[in-house]
Amino acid sequence: MQEHLTIVKHPLVQHKLTLMREKDTSTAVFRQLLREISQLLAYEVTYELPMTTKNIETPMEEMEAPTLAGRKLALISILRAGNGLLDGMLELIPSARVGFVGLYRDEKTLKPVQYYFKVPDMLEKRLVIVVDPMLATGNSSAAAVDLLKQAGAKDIRFLCLLAAPEGVARMKEAHPDVPIVTASLDERLNDIGYILPGLGDAGDRMFGTK
Ligand code: URA
Repeated sequence: MQEHLTIVKHPLVQHKLTLMREKDTSTAVFRQLLREISQLLAYEVTYELPMTTKNIETPMEEMEAPTLAGRKLALISILRAGNGLLDGMLELIPSARVGFVGLYRDEKTLKPVQYYFKVPDMLEKRLVIVVDPMLATGNSSAAAVDLLKQAGAKDIRFLCLLAAPEGVARMKEAHPDVPIVTASLDERLNDIGYILPGLGDAGDRMFGTK
């Protein structure tokens, strides 16, 4: 991927995103929409996966048919909201390896604190796609990518639903080599680090918590 930031403007993505933003959208519908959007975003973020061919037999004849090359890719969910994107992506890429990074945001400093880290082996040989619906301050995203690079990852992409300009700038400064794919670049953050206009707390909305 060449661009640092790709905004997926596909009408289905934008339509579903609008439904997700609406405050009266139920938990069940929010979750279903996130699952659907994640698959459309997955299409974009995997667009340039390396390919090879293999010889197969159709019922008609032999052919050299295209197939994915290289190691299974790694999907890394930033807990807990990342799991909403992860589920849909796994339906599309069922053989992907999966890792989890647990970071919570200290409400006062807005800085990330790590509480869980478990990722697939041989990260250095895999395309690593980090998923987190909300790229807000970018602090936890940058910290997660730091941890993944320390674990060996070299080819990393970041997939989110919404991004704030502040988060994109933070990621560009900390990890200019990590392309970001998102459905929207929103306007700004509020003073407690929430994206505006945004959709509220993605984790709460998908799990029905407050
Ligand atoms: N995390 C969320 O869930 N929502 C925001 O707006 C920012 C961070």
